[in-house]
Amino acid sequence: MNKRENWGSRLGFLLAAAGSAVGLGNIWRFPYMTGENGGGAFLIIYLVFVILIGVSVMVCELAVGRRSGLATVGAYKSKSRSWTFAGVLGVLCGLLIMGFYPVIGGWSLAYIFKSISGLVTSVDANAIGATFDAFITSPIQPLIWTGIFLSLNAFVVVKGVSKGIEKASKILMPMLLILLTAIAIYGFTLPGASEGLSFLFKPDFSAVTGETYIAALGQAFFSLSIGMGCMITYGSYLKKDENLVSSAGMIVSLDVICALLAGLAIFPALFAFGLDIDAGPGLVFVVVPTIFANIGGIVGIILAVLFFIALSVAALTSSVSLLEGVVAYLIDEKSFVRKNAVTLSVVIMLGLSIVASLSMGVMSDITLFGVGAFDFLDILTDKIFLAVGGLLLVIFAGWHLKKEDLKDELTNGGSIRFGLFDVWYFLIKYIIPVAIAIVVITGAISIEQTSLMVFGLGVVLVLGIFSKKL
Ligand code: TRP
Repeated sequence: MNKRENWGSRLGFLLAAAGSAVGLGNIWRFPYMTGENGGGAFLIIYLVFVILIGVSVMVCELAVGRRSGLATVGAYKSKSRSWTFAGVLGVLCGLLIMGFYPVIGGWSLAYIFKSISGLVTSVDANAIGATFDAFITSPIQPLIWTGIFLSLNAFVVVKGVSKGIEKASKILMPMLLILLTAIAIYGFTLPGASEGLSFLFKPDFSAVTGETYIAALGQAFFSLSIGMGCMITYGSYLKKDENLVSSAGMIVSLDVICALLAGLAIFPALFAFGLDIDAGPGLVFVVVPTIFANIGGIVGIILAVLFFIALSVAALTSSVSLLEGVVAYLIDEKSFVRKNAVTLSVVIMLGLSIVASLSMGVMSDITLFGVGAFDFLDILTDKIFLAVGGLLLVIFAGWHLKKEDLKDELTNGGSIRFGLFDVWYFLIKYIIPVAIAIVVITGAISIEQTSLMVFGLGVVLVLGIFSKKL
């Protein structure tokens, strides 16, 4: 463990970290969360959270990771055993996110092939929606694609950080950006598109509740890959001369740009086609193929195929970071060899994903705390564990680590400037912990699934109590 693997190059790290951040969270999740939560007001709250909380938490994760040179659990544990649970919570969270993320990754892979075989020939959005529903509720097909998606993850992560993840990250990110831009531009030209723009940019705060805030915070954390120590682990592989603050700035900017582009690509077209705004998880899988069907012909098919290839790769570079978090824990803390760590993690993730996928169809009647398995995993991780994970991280850094050490890490031993250090420190020590706590508590009260929120907080408490045993 002395000779820690490092990123091959500065660009390699930035691409991998941006690859982790930019994924289904931006292109699949952001538009439907925005749709479900009222549009413009949600967008503004989300942006405020990204700027006031997200950037600082990202900087904090990278600093803690590089300082300790250890993955999530080790980074906490090396300072104090009673903090181990905060790291374990992150690993658990990564494991549970990977209990539903591969389902969507599988949909995306499947849609590459469906695009070739006739999906984008019908211009009827309702027909495309019906195809989607039939696909995700069928018992076998989505499971096969989920399995393929997880196998790809295993393949990348077995090869180790610099070789596997870095290479995969370098491939199709730029193409995704270009395609989203092209779709957005095409979408603007459709009749009725302006309604979509005003939905996205004209905030209506009258419908905002505590649930909107927790949804926006969860979306911000999920999309930025923060709150579970993923960036701690990536930071631990980072060389000492890297500028953490500017890296964080770049990753966050790119992530927000991708989410906004996805919104611009989806909403104008959605209104133009007269589709339902709260279509939920199917949004991208219905709107985007409909756009390409409208473009039509072989061009439409080629663009659709390229889009879903790019989306699948974006999903893959994100999911490998989640898998890597769990794998790094097993290697560093439980002395696994990489291959076995990957196998064990992927088997558990596959088991969870199968249940999550079936909860869309044949198992939709089986609920836990009033929601199906997919929603259970999504709400538990996104609205509770990530937020609490971020809260614990900033408390740990602000109250447990030495201010000079943090300054030393963020200025590379004084060799670069971080003019806003005091502002950042004040934010993570006082403002952000309080802000997250308020959002989580008001969210727990106003959300429909209050009992699930209480359950999640209970899990955190139990982990905390048994922290010394973890
Ligand atoms: N950010 C990724 C996305 O937007 C998902 C993801 C990767 C993630 N690593 C994470 C989410 C760590 C939370 C924590 O698709």
